[in-house]
Amino acid sequence: MVKICCIGAGYVGGPTMAVIALKCPNIQVAVVDISVQRINAWNSDQLPIYEPGLDDVVKGCRGKNLFFSTDVNKHVCESDIVFVSVNTPTKTRGLGAGKAADLTYWESAARMIADVAKSDKIVVEKSTVPVKTAEAIEKILTHNSKGINFQILSNPEFLAEGTAIQDLFNPDRVLIGGRETPEGNKAVKALKDVYAHWVPEDRILTTNLWSAELSKLAANAFLAQRISSVNAMSALCEATGADVTQVSYAVGKDTRIGPKFLNASVGFGGSCFQKDILNLVYICDCNGLPEVAEYWKQVIKINDYQKNRFVNRVVASMFNTVSNKKVAILGFAFKKDTGDTRETPAIDVCQGLLGDKAQLSIYDPQVNEDQIQRDLTMKKFDWDHPLHLQPMSPTAVKKVSVVWDAYEATKDAHAVCILTEWDEFKKLDYKRIYDNMQKPAFIFDGRNIVNAEKMREIGFIVYSIGKPLDAWLKDMPAVA
Ligand code: UDX
Ligand code: ADP
Repeated sequence: MVKICCIGAGYVGGPTMAVIALKCPNIQVAVVDISVQRINAWNSDQLPIYEPGLDDVVKGCRGKNLFFSTDVNKHVCESDIVFVSVNTPTKTRGLGAGKAADLTYWESAARMIADVAKSDKIVVEKSTVPVKTAEAIEKILTHNSKGINFQILSNPEFLAEGTAIQDLFNPDRVLIGGRETPEGNKAVKALKDVYAHWVPEDRILTTNLWSAELSKLAANAFLAQRISSVNAMSALCEATGADVTQVSYAVGKDTRIGPKFLNASVGFGGSCFQKDILNLVYICDCNGLPEVAEYWKQVIKINDYQKNRFVNRVVASMFNTVSNKKVAILGFAFKKDTGDTRETPAIDVCQGLLGDKAQLSIYDPQVNEDQIQRDLTMKKFDWDHPLHLQPMSPTAVKKVSVVWDAYEATKDAHAVCILTEWDEFKKLDYKRIYDNMQKPAFIFDGRNIVNAEKMREIGFIVYSIGKPLDAWLKDMPAVA
């Protein structure tokens, strides 16, 4: 029986391994992590991450051929294939701070594999890492190998949170990069055989190591670039009276462009887009390509601009001050159907409003108070001016309350900001919300999910990203 071990039981490792176990009953899968709390949660009824469909997959194979454990050494030692799916955040200090990936976790995982291995292993890079990481890992492993043969593969994950299970069941493609040697080809084939249990062969692409690594960064950069492009258009739409949803629809009808990923929003978030682009920028800089670096950096700059623009719109519309006004925040996660808040635009928007002394009442169906308070107190890392940034003052965060109901959040509020596109926000009784708010009552829809005309009929002053502005908003222009 083939044995797989995955180091790192996070958003990538957990769901991916659960699906491999489900689809390959003849393979034994162990997911290991240094965090006891995380592993305990994976072994309980309350999984550590919220992901539609995940509970059923885990329940279907946990204890049969899927195991979650903190005994990292044992499972690594026993396995034929080791996936490494540890965190690779952006470095916050030292060389490359603010841009380069922090490979501390990766390196220590690689050293541990070299340390405990007693038989040949295929080591699969699953976390997003900079191009040439596989080569560095290969060096660590072969210099400490005691004669053991390690084959390194890059197998980047393309799943998106909120749709992870669907994406894993039916991937657009599986990418496997390996060394172009007989041993490398053999390792690629072994991993291909795992995916071939459920993925059609023509969707399993094989490349060299560096192409696979770079493809992941490139795919995320292209996706993020689409959002920044449409968000840049949204500002122009507001200035000219065009409607960004109509523009996106017309643009997306071109089959060369396609309709997906063209929704204007308050900004993109998530653990990948910003991190991967910063990574790309760093690699370009290091390779003497400043123009290419600058090109990609602009995708992040527009994203920051969009979040600032939203805050300025809120403040400007409300007589240029939100000081001590209650502002309801609906949605804190970086997208719907996840409880993940990494790089969520809600952090910047809330911090911006708190900077103007607003009183925030936040509701998200999947994010708890602890997480929100932690996110809002954390020092935000600014990759251009890292030293100038200060953490939020403790008094500012006292101005945040977290509630478990949208009606409670909006009661007596002056304004509602919709920051995540949760389905339940589309179905709220906005008449009831309006009746319980201060007047004039504002809605700032950062995800374009409410019907602006209906909201206006109720009496709201409405701002929708990239849509023609209310007369009220036109009279109170926001300078970004
Ligand atoms: C992304 C990639 O999609 C995935 O392939 C990769 O493996 C990891 O990074 P993820 O970050 O989980 O996945 O979610 P995604 O659906 O890509 O959304 C990222 C951000 O973009 C979210 O904040 C989302 O709200 C925003 N977004 C997405 C928009 O603002 N507009 C869109 O049209 C699409
Ligand atoms: P991702 O979104 O990429 O899955 P996460 O942060 O959710 O990232 O998960 C990464 C996991 O890797 C964390 O649970 C962390 O505890 C784990 N981890 C990091 N380093 C090691 C290591 N050396 N051994 C085992 N687990 C590790």
